[in-house]
Amino acid sequence: MPTTRTIARKFSSRKTIEGAGVRLHRAFGYSQLPLFDPFLMLDDFRAEQPEDYLLGFPWHPHRGIETVTYMLEGTVEHGDSMGHKGNVDTGCVQWMTAGSGIIHQEMPKPVDGRMGGFQLWVNLPRSHKMMDPRYQEIRAEDIPKVTLPGGVSASVICGKIAGVAGPVHDIVADPEYLDVTLEPDAQFSHRVRPGYMATVYVIGGRGRFDQHQKEELTNRTLALFSVEVTSVDVHAGSEGVRFLYFSGKPLREPIAWGGPIVMNTEDELQQAFAEYRNGTFIKKTS
Ligand code: FE2
Repeated sequence: MPTTRTIARKFSSRKTIEGAGVRLHRAFGYSQLPLFDPFLMLDDFRAEQPEDYLLGFPWHPHRGIETVTYMLEGTVEHGDSMGHKGNVDTGCVQWMTAGSGIIHQEMPKPVDGRMGGFQLWVNLPRSHKMMDPRYQEIRAEDIPKVTLPGGVSASVICGKIAGVAGPVHDIVADPEYLDVTLEPDAQFSHRVRPGYMATVYVIGGRGRFDQHQKEELTNRTLALFSVEVTSVDVHAGSEGVRFLYFSGKPLREPIAWGGPIVMNTEDELQQAFAEYRNGTFIKKTS
């Protein structure tokens, strides 16, 4: 019989400016290290005003991490140092493993006047920091939508619900990434593997994520669950609730983080920046 996870910490996302001047909300990031290990950062770039995002994220490097872009609305035009070009369209996911290094740009654009999505950073362990870069590009129609009795539906990007597995595979941190919607007053219980971290980020409505607390969490709030117990239980409020759920296996390694590059040691970080300056950053060009 699983025991229910309680909320260890609650956070509200904070407004920040990234890239060339994109106004976004950061759910968690550098200042919470290492609470969300194996995850490093979650940015919420849902926006109403085009001027908040059109400047985008021009050419910049990544090394040592994976960036996961999930679009609810609009699109992100993407191009990189390996010659890839394309869009992350509405409902689609780009799971990019930067590994030894990618230089890319990401430019959000509206579709029918709307744009909004999320970017999660997943850390790579020492053994995989310098792996070859790769992409898993997932079309919206390839993300399974699971409907459970009692008013629960979920998109499974990575991980498994009711025996249905998401399309993203072979990620070292063994993550789960779910987009879950509960109808008013519905309930949802999800097992967390022992020792794995679990967190939810509310993106609509309101709900209780801890049976011992009356308080409902609302849009742009985050709950980090305690690690001792094995399931997350959610009770939707009177208007229902929608949230992103993440879990993963903590890496428990030292973190040296400099902007878009995350290594284990300061020396590795300095080497990465030196290579970026002298033109030897990219190890794999195609
Ligand atoms: Fe990036």
